[in-house]
Amino acid sequence: DVESRVNALLKQMTLQEKIGQMNQLSPFGGIEEMAGLIKEGKVGSLLNLTDPELVNKAQEIAVKESRLGIPLLMSRDVIHGYKTIFPIPLGQAATFNPQIAEDGARVAAIEASADGIRWTFAPMIDVSRDARWGRMAESCGEDPYLSAVMGTAMVMGFQGNSLNDPTSMAACAKHFVGYGAVESGKDYNSTFIPERVLRNVYFPPFEAAARAGCATFMTSFNDNDGVPSTANKFILKDVLRKEWNYDGMVVTDWASAAEMIAHGFCKDEKEAAEKAINAGVDMDMVSSVFIHNMEALVKEKKVSEATIDDAVRNILRLKFRLGLFENPYVDADQSVKYAEDHLAKAKEAAIQSAILLKNDKQTLPLTDKIRTIVVTGPLADAPHDQLGTWVFDGEKEHTQTPLKALQEMYGDKIRIVYEPGLAYSRDKQREGITKAVAAVRNADIVLAFVGEEAILSGEAHSLADLNLQGAQADLISALSQTGKPVVTIVMAGRPLTIGKQVEESTAVLYSFHPGTMGGPALVDLLFGTAVPSGKTPVTFPKMTGQSPIYYAHHHTGRAPSGQEILIDEIPLEAGQTSLGCTSFYIDAGFGPLFPFGYGLSYTTFQYNRINISADKLKTTDTLIASVDITNTGKYAGTEVVQLYIQDKVGSVTRPVKELKGFKRVDLQPGEKQTVTFSLPVSELAFWNIDMQKVVEPGDFTIWLGTNSQEGLSADFEVIN
Ligand code: IFM
Repeated sequence: DVESRVNALLKQMTLQEKIGQMNQLSPFGGIEEMAGLIKEGKVGSLLNLTDPELVNKAQEIAVKESRLGIPLLMSRDVIHGYKTIFPIPLGQAATFNPQIAEDGARVAAIEASADGIRWTFAPMIDVSRDARWGRMAESCGEDPYLSAVMGTAMVMGFQGNSLNDPTSMAACAKHFVGYGAVESGKDYNSTFIPERVLRNVYFPPFEAAARAGCATFMTSFNDNDGVPSTANKFILKDVLRKEWNYDGMVVTDWASAAEMIAHGFCKDEKEAAEKAINAGVDMDMVSSVFIHNMEALVKEKKVSEATIDDAVRNILRLKFRLGLFENPYVDADQSVKYAEDHLAKAKEAAIQSAILLKNDKQTLPLTDKIRTIVVTGPLADAPHDQLGTWVFDGEKEHTQTPLKALQEMYGDKIRIVYEPGLAYSRDKQREGITKAVAAVRNADIVLAFVGEEAILSGEAHSLADLNLQGAQADLISALSQTGKPVVTIVMAGRPLTIGKQVEESTAVLYSFHPGTMGGPALVDLLFGTAVPSGKTPVTFPKMTGQSPIYYAHHHTGRAPSGQEILIDEIPLEAGQTSLGCTSFYIDAGFGPLFPFGYGLSYTTFQYNRINISADKLKTTDTLIASVDITNTGKYAGTEVVQLYIQDKVGSVTRPVKELKGFKRVDLQPGEKQTVTFSLPVSELAFWNIDMQKVVEPGDFTIWLGTNSQEGLSADFEVIN
């Protein structure tokens, strides 16, 4: 079995060879400069090698020329597709459909493994509640439950039925942990998350990934309460290894071991290596602090050989599980790029990830009465930008943009006039706007594709202002002043503060960055061949200053809502107490622009008759809750029915609502279905005042609804 093979190999290894396995390097293209190191057994994994011939060449050196012939582990950031690019993970989360996430990851694994990549650094399951943070794009949004479900589905897709299958890639749950809470949304910043919040909010997606067999974990860049994750024994040993029994492999983030010097946590590389290995890191990504210092640290007894052995066991176990010893090479001639079924899956993902935020006068879907359409906006024909962040390998030549798709699918029936208005999302030149407006005067409708270029989200791309960049707001205002219906389609890596554009548009479709097939997917949605079903995976703020913003906040001591007296309405003579003293912004009010879980359809759904199996339950019982849903509109559609609970009184204050389940339900016009959920009472457990995970008896409310703010509710009590 794998464990005895690991131990047998370990016995033959010198200390240097063991340390070599713990070293990951990035050749960025060629391998000449590291051939010698591979031969000496000083490299365990390579990052960013994507040419199958080079992969085979490097493997050949490792397998045939190093003393023990241990194959290398080839890795790459394959985040939302390899060649065929799926919507960004935040968009995938908007589908509330784990099958979409699993399919996307499977396609990515098939394509990337064909180039010899057997380890990806995904899924990113950092709970993200601050849209200023550029990496929200890579996350599954603000909710621990949704992130756990979607993240686990991605793990299943990447890893397939067995790691041993040559089309499988080892997944990597990242970034462990708390990186989504970087202070003020600024990338790499510190976090200050107390243990209970870690356990109740930030750990659950990671625990789910570990339990689903996610092969690797990556430590995060942030220091939490002063301790960088790469040296955090509590998270890496006490929680991951001991509580969750994890036997996978832990890698640092890019040079995050060495970065502990810049953090002011280690005085030099040697101390960084010592702290990282002793905290529970197995592999050092590119900083070389292990390979340079570990031998000395062992000699000085600062690191025990047993610790090294544990790390190397974790690495070798993964290599055996991946079948690399049997089959280290890749067939350099096979090609599975942009296959028809991959494109079809990417298109379906893009369809399901689009969120209809507004549809006045049933502007959408477009009818065959439309004769002339003006297509405008910097994202209408931006083959690179619609792919989003973290796209190293998808070729923009294969991207199908909305403009091209429209011309191809409707060019013979409808006059399509293209006036970009702006060249790119940050463009401030207004001449193009005048041309677009002139074109619109002779059209029936305008489709305005706005949002963010890919480069405005992702790592190290945080923003302090979430408004549309450049002159895009002016473009929408000018279009709206023509009096023609304006359909605004937003492609972005995060929720933008588009309140004004929502007001000025007749309909708004939010597609995040939709990937390779974004164009045909959006055209199908615009013309009603497909019906929108996406729901917001994050709360959309009205103003940047509301960030971080999320639905599962705790109650304050003040009324949860009330009279909103906004800044311009405050009477001059107002006394200090005249505003109600509730918890809100005098310039933004109580609520968000759109709540979590929000999204319209071309049809309408009515919720009736919530029913629960009992109003008193024991902690070992399961609550059965159901609701009747009727499609009351004209189109067949899909509704994401969401289950939220509130634990009314706890030993510590509890969130006002927590998502505990969801189901996508397909309904024909007029069709009614009873949608039923089973909720084991054990799932109401949380980490309480004594830092124990328990269900505390008491009163609860359950909601079954269409988003986090609307739904039918029922009360029940949990008894001992
Ligand atoms: O996987 C990434 C990580 O998310 C951010 N830093 C670099 C890593 C490897 O490219």
